[in-house]
Amino acid sequence: MNKCPVSDYCGACQYQGIDYAKQLQIKQEYEEKLLSNFCHVNEIIGMDDPYNYRNKVQFSFGYDDQKNLISGYYLPDSHRLFNVDECMLADKGINRIYNSIKKIISSLKIPVYDERSHRGFLRHVLIRMSNLNEYMIVLVTAADKVFNIEELVNQIIRFNPEVTTVIQNINFENTSMILGNKNIVLFGKGYITDELLGHRFRISPSSFYQVNKRQTEVLYATALKAAELNAKDVVIDAYCGTGTIGLCAADRVKKVIGIELNEDAIKDANINKQLNGINNAEFICADAGKYMLQLSKTKRKIDCVIMDPPRSGSDQKFMSSLVKMNPSKVVYISCNPQTLKRDLNFLKSYYEIEKIIPVDMFPFTSHVETVVKLIRDF
Ligand SMILES: C[S@@+](CC[C@H](N)C(=O)[O-])C[C@H]1O[C@@H](n2cnc3c(N)ncnc32)[C@H](O)[C@@H]1O
Repeated sequence: MNKCPVSDYCGACQYQGIDYAKQLQIKQEYEEKLLSNFCHVNEIIGMDDPYNYRNKVQFSFGYDDQKNLISGYYLPDSHRLFNVDECMLADKGINRIYNSIKKIISSLKIPVYDERSHRGFLRHVLIRMSNLNEYMIVLVTAADKVFNIEELVNQIIRFNPEVTTVIQNINFENTSMILGNKNIVLFGKGYITDELLGHRFRISPSSFYQVNKRQTEVLYATALKAAELNAKDVVIDAYCGTGTIGLCAADRVKKVIGIELNEDAIKDANINKQLNGINNAEFICADAGKYMLQLSKTKRKIDCVIMDPPRSGSDQKFMSSLVKMNPSKVVYISCNPQTLKRDLNFLKSYYEIEKIIPVDMFPFTSHVETVVKLIRDF
């Protein structure tokens, strides 16, 4: 069962060595313990094949104490890198391309970044792929000009024809954040295109996009089924990222309003709207809580709110505006059962909690996603 050679020290997979059926049981029991007071918790939806599901992985580069090139992940809660040749969660193509890039970096003697001295150039290589088998490489560098970067790009695309775009991202800061603010497209279009539930989506280097390439369709289909949408519905897709959920819903409803804080994601959402020929969706770049508060002061009728907040859940502004707007249906997609529990404790005075459906988006980790359907309690 334990297929991973670095599992003894890599902290990324908390459930390494645990049979997948057992992992699902642990997650099911956790969800039931936290949430079964609200309503029955459905059986968790697991994956048929729980390996190689990640469509995005970032590998870091540095030197060990003997000044040998080292690349892979950081030890948990530390700045110490360890070598990774293959990650069993990563898409197989991502592993293959990463190993090819590692060899090229070593043969071209590209100076990698040394965290201790803050010298050197190449910090991380981020690889993203789409269901259409397009691969994006983001070379995160500590400076604009990098020795031999043109040849690095030439060789990446020569040896890896599935790579459709290469971007340089500049991150000067002494920080544990991977990406800086500036992107320079070195090859291709600067984005890749994914397909989900028959719709196409553009993914830029820094936009949020679900990382489980197969299970995302299951998650979205579960949420949209729970929403029981109809042609008269005006739907809010709150925390919409690149608009994926709302655009998958658009052809079944009257209107979709997507709200998202990240400007790049909103740009992508507007492009995705055009890409899919959708003209009943509107995307707003704003804090979801603030926008909901404004909307709650108008008489605009909203039938359904689909909300997919970050791990911190929704703030009080959002929650109190939501109940004031009083949509007949709410579908809450949560990546953190603890904040979900907090938010449901508030919502239960206004809504009947009809369904709780756990979905396993992150096998081998302790994370679990949950779809909750709430209906207005008249
Ligand atoms: C869990 S992701 C969901 C994205 C999208 N629904 C999807 O499936 O790809 C949460 C999103 O909320 C956005 N976000 C975080 N805080 C926000 C806020 N206060 N207001 C609006 N959007 C926010 C993030 O940028 C991110 O795109």
